[in-house]
Amino acid sequence: MTRLISSLMSSFLLLAILGFGLVLIVSGNAEGDALNAWKVNLADPNYVLQSWDPTLVNPCTWFNVKCNSNNSVTHIGLGNANLSGQLVPQLGQLSNLQTFEAYGNNLSGTIPDEFGNLTNLVTLELFFNRLSGPIPGTLGKLQKLRELRLNNNNLSGNIPMSLTNVASLQVLDVSNNHLTGDIQNNGSFAFLTPPSFKNNPGLKPPKCQISPPPSAL
Ligand SMILES: *[C@@H]1O[C@H](CO)[C@@H](O)[C@H](O)[C@H]1NC(C)=O
Ligand SMILES: *[C@@H]1O[C@H](CO)[C@@H](O)[C@H](O)[C@H]1NC(C)=O
Ligand SMILES: *[C@@H]1O[C@H](CO)[C@@H](O)[C@H](O)[C@H]1NC(C)=O
Ligand SMILES: *[C@@H]1O[C@H](CO)[C@@H](O)[C@H](O)[C@H]1NC(C)=O
Ligand SMILES: *[C@@H]1O[C@H](CO)[C@@H](O)[C@H](O)[C@H]1NC(C)=O
Ligand SMILES: *[C@@H]1O[C@H](CO)[C@@H](O)[C@H](O)[C@H]1NC(C)=O
Repeated sequence: MTRLISSLMSSFLLLAILGFGLVLIVSGNAEGDALNAWKVNLADPNYVLQSWDPTLVNPCTWFNVKCNSNNSVTHIGLGNANLSGQLVPQLGQLSNLQTFEAYGNNLSGTIPDEFGNLTNLVTLELFFNRLSGPIPGTLGKLQKLRELRLNNNNLSGNIPMSLTNVASLQVLDVSNNHLTGDIQNNGSFAFLTPPSFKNNPGLKPPKCQISPPPSAL
């Protein structure tokens, strides 16, 4: 009888431990899965992503990734890493991300609309790549964004007006692309200077007037 009870108890213990482990894997790995979805889209000839092991409990020990005290990703630093491939929508799930640096690579394709979900983003550095398509209007949702460098890509279309609503914006560089339309000079764009926009042959400079029009038509 005691043997039966003790064997039952150890079975329960085993199940409890297994269950707890499963919970850890399932709940702890969402951000790791998002980063791994990007990794599998990349060619990495210099093995800078070798430590990105999706079977670990979270991505916080991976090289070029930093987390906060809650094991949520805050920094990705992959500048000049010789990466080829595309950005993936899953990156928009990194809800505590503050810094995303992937400049000086060989990234192609578009900037996913889902980047507008990175509402804690302060710095987005994607310059010197081969990105094409439009600058997503959703980036106007990034109300903490201070530095946005998208220069030296192959971006086209208008600069989204929503970016003028990002009051925190201090640095914008969209030079050396194929952007078109009028440059805004209101809101957060009021303090930007021509070098931010240069070498976009289809981009028209703002009207000289900075003050609002006398009447709203
Ligand atoms: C960690 O999570 C707790 C509870 O969700 C939150 O109060 C705290 O601000 C978070 N800490 C960081 C550094 O994000
Ligand atoms: C980048 O990767 C390519 C292979 O795709 C290689 O030929 C080149 O030497 C690498 N460049 C650097 C700076 O590591
Ligand atoms: C850049 O990426 C393209 C694929 O998008 C690839 O064909 C090319 O070899 C890459 N160039 C370098 C230098 O890695
Ligand atoms: C993220 O953004 C996309 C496109 O902007 C949207 O469709 C999606 O619902 C968002 N996801 C979350 C989890 O907020
Ligand atoms: C740049 O993008 C345009 C489409 O907007 C495309 O026709 C062109 O081939 C691209 N150039 C390069 C160098 O990727
Ligand atoms: C700047 O002007 C455009 C229209 O020209 C408008 O859509 C946008 O909301 C304005 N931004 C701010 C911050 O007022």
